[in-house]
Amino acid sequence: MAQHIATGQLQVLERPETGRFELDFPGGQAFALYRSDGDRIVVTHTEVPPAFNGRGLGSQLAEGIFRIARVSGRCVVPRCSFVADWARRHPHYNDVLA
Ligand SMILES: CC(C)(COP(=O)(O)OP(=O)(O)OC[C@H]1O[C@@H](n2cnc3c(N)ncnc32)[C@H](O)[C@@H]1OP(=O)(O)O)[C@@H](O)C(=O)NCCC(=O)NCCS
Repeated sequence: MAQHIATGQLQVLERPETGRFELDFPGGQAFALYRSDGDRIVVTHTEVPPAFNGRGLGSQLAEGIFRIARVSGRCVVPRCSFVADWARRHPHYNDVLA
């Protein structure tokens, strides 16, 4: 089932049919690719359009993924370096870190 969650003013939406989490923002979209493995969300790649890098959009997307995992009783396997680093810097999401 699709999940969505607000991070700040923006929403992170899970799209199981395409294996993506998406964050729409004025001017573009950030996304993360994932696959499901039982109750695990295996995140393999994260991308923010280059013109919008360094504005916290990737971090909002990562936070949305962890919050969606938490409310849906799943956990996150970060196979993407950005999400893995983000998780290390946000230990209050350790309960949903695989
Ligand atoms: C990585 C990416 C998603 C970050 O998005 P962003 O919106 O610029 O990220 P934020 O602004 O929220 O955070 C920037 C922080 O992420 C760090 N970062 C950037 N790229 C990173 C990477 N590949 N791995 C780990 N950390 C990274 C930056 O050093 C910065 O840290 P700081 O805040 O301590 O300076 C974006 O730069 C991107 O799309 N890069 C190209 C694709 C890619 O390399 N994806 C990651 C590997 S799958």
